[in-house]
Amino acid sequence: MNKLKSLLAKCSPTTQLFLPSRILGAKNVYLHDYVRIMPQSVIMASGGKFIMKKFSGASFNLTVVTSNHRPTVGIPNFFNNSLHINEVIKGDVIIEEDCWLGMNVSLLPGAHIGRGAIVGANTLVNREIPPYAVVVGNPNRIIATKFTRTEIIQHEKKLYSQDERLSEKQVDELFDKYYAGLKSIGTSELNEPDFTTYNDFLASSNINYHSIR
Ligand SMILES: CC(C)(COP(=O)(O)OP(=O)(O)OC[C@H]1O[C@@H](n2cnc3c(N)ncnc32)[C@H](O)[C@@H]1OP(=O)(O)O)[C@@H](O)C(=O)NCCC(=O)NCCS
Repeated sequence: MNKLKSLLAKCSPTTQLFLPSRILGAKNVYLHDYVRIMPQSVIMASGGKFIMKKFSGASFNLTVVTSNHRPTVGIPNFFNNSLHINEVIKGDVIIEEDCWLGMNVSLLPGAHIGRGAIVGANTLVNREIPPYAVVVGNPNRIIATKFTRTEIIQHEKKLYSQDERLSEKQVDELFDKYYAGLKSIGTSELNEPDFTTYNDFLASSNINYHSIR
């Protein structure tokens, strides 16, 4: 495990990368603080970069591919692919902060998952997903938001410094553009035992981050 982590372009001491998992193109993989990738995952990053930002987690069997082979006249498929001739790199595959990816999610070139988004089990992503969206299926569709408008603003205040936060105007624009009429699936309630567990964890770690109350 430590050997694999040491090969990555970036891997924080707080990153959890569970084995068995396979990573090709480790020098293109950036896993930030408090990122968690569960076992049976495969990351093929020999083309573009794969970047997963702080507080994000992916369940079992995450698949990431950061480039496509380009069929080339006169070159048989076997050599075209194995030698990575003429690869198409659309851009990096990026998971922004605080995202949750369910089981068996596949990310293809072009995937850019917005901050706080949730990607349902078995979903394929090959495009931009807006912040705080809940997306499912293949092709994926937005079925909900993670939080209400007010909850997103409260949540951002807890997690991010002022210069990192989405502005209220940006949150309004998200709701106007993508989320009109959709449910939100989160909550701002927390029972006492879980509140204690969470606070105890914060107190015993050196996370520079405030409790929710
Ligand atoms: C994305 C998710 C959180 C949404 O939960 P939810 O808000 O309770 O969603 P609902 O069950 O109300 O479903 C809403 C609609 O989306 C569909 N849907 C939900 N999850 C789906 C999925 N993963 N793939 C395809 N469709 C899905 C439902 O069928 C329903 O469709 P309909 O409105 O046409 O009937 C949940 O479905 C999910 O996929 N969770 C991931 C579980 C997991 O992998 N856990 C591993 C541990 S990390």
